[in-house]
Amino acid sequence: MKVTIFGTGYVGLVTGACLAEMGNHVVCVDIDAGKVERLKKGEIPIFEPGLEPIVKRNYASGQLDFTTHPAPSIEHGQIVFIAVGTPPDEDGSADLKYVLSVARTIGQHLDKYTVVVNKSTVPVGTADRVRAAIAEELEKRGASVEFDVVSNPEFLKEGDAVEDCLRPDRIIIGSSSERAVNVLRKLYAPFNRNHDRTVVMDERSAELTKYAANAMLATKISFMNEIANIAERVGADVELVRQGIGSDPRIGYHFIYPGAGYGGSCFPKDVQALERTARGVGYDARLLGAVEAVNHDQKTKLFELISRHLDGQLKGKTIALWGLAFKPNTDDMREASSRNLMEALWTAGAKVRAFDPEAREETHRIYGDREDLVLCDNAYQALEGADVLAIITEWKAFRSPDFARIRGMLGSPAIFDGRNLYDPVAVEEAGLAYYGIGRGRSL
Ligand code: UGA
Repeated sequence: MKVTIFGTGYVGLVTGACLAEMGNHVVCVDIDAGKVERLKKGEIPIFEPGLEPIVKRNYASGQLDFTTHPAPSIEHGQIVFIAVGTPPDEDGSADLKYVLSVARTIGQHLDKYTVVVNKSTVPVGTADRVRAAIAEELEKRGASVEFDVVSNPEFLKEGDAVEDCLRPDRIIIGSSSERAVNVLRKLYAPFNRNHDRTVVMDERSAELTKYAANAMLATKISFMNEIANIAERVGADVELVRQGIGSDPRIGYHFIYPGAGYGGSCFPKDVQALERTARGVGYDARLLGAVEAVNHDQKTKLFELISRHLDGQLKGKTIALWGLAFKPNTDDMREASSRNLMEALWTAGAKVRAFDPEAREETHRIYGDREDLVLCDNAYQALEGADVLAIITEWKAFRSPDFARIRGMLGSPAIFDGRNLYDPVAVEEAGLAYYGIGRGRSL
């Protein structure tokens, strides 16, 4: 099928590449000419395992193309995806200016029946606003062209995006138009070979499904962080509690890992936006507010533990940091807990020596050259001249380090394990103080 995608960010690029891989003719449109040129050369702007080969292969074979020109792209697509960003505006609601601007562009050029699909995470009611914007532009030019607007949210995880896109758990099609649903069923048929993963519903329910999924996952994390905070005060180990509750299939083992708080471009933004949506319709979403507040505090947790260990004397101290990205297998630093920690340490007069397998460049782009930040080439280099070690991203490479070597390199041997990667007993036997999240001994 002929597909057009507006926006070559995470969602747009991955969706475009995966749809091309399934044999569709895909044109990706972006207003950033430099980005389009780089994509044509096979340079992928993000670190995402498995993405580069499918972009290169499908661009070479002509299944996938990149352009800055909207008019021919709209003419090309039977299906036009909107996958542009929805950054939070000052009050936490999702800013729809890019989505609506694409909608207007579509209205200005539409020339045949087209299914317009909202792939970006957008507030409930956006499909109606996109429909109205397109209709208004059609009316301005006196054109009468049929179209449908569908909500088809994306559920990909950074780091697993290609896999999630090629093998989705579910495909939500939010549309009350049978014609549009049939077009999308055809597009997604190759993804449904073993069993049908499609769930068809109305637009508003589809839009809310996306927020509800992310809010539920964020709630699980804040819930566990709350239990961790209780555990350390009552002398329990949250890691044992986690295994104890996860064995109940109604709870499950997934997404109940306590830690230094959730980050990324989705959970913080989406929880806030949903809370805001609720407020807009006269409902005070207290649970969502609490999920956010717990996460906010959790992001300062490691700083407090480090500060206490060093008796509040952080000035002139050097903290080694393993991990910078908001989670492993990405170079994304958006809302990363490492940023809260580093910024608090700098304010207190400490220096940071950090190592991350992928996020070095991104960290440098954000913070530039500064005396109190050294970005290192490997994990042990970060320990040179450092007083203590904090781990904030659970990259596999940090899972079984040489504790004796770490102890030998640190001025005040202690590990602050922001993701509960290590066995406290093994760390202490190696002569280091151990601080985890919710593991009794931290207090
Ligand atoms: C999240 C959702 O998982 C995807 O399903 C969704 O499609 C995506 O947002 C989106 O809306 O686009 P992502 O932000 O890539 O995906 O990252 P996650 O793997 O969900 O991790 C989010 C944060 O939660 C990370 O900072 C991670 O460290 C933290 N986390 C995760 C925990 O602290 N504990 C856990 O048990 C799991």
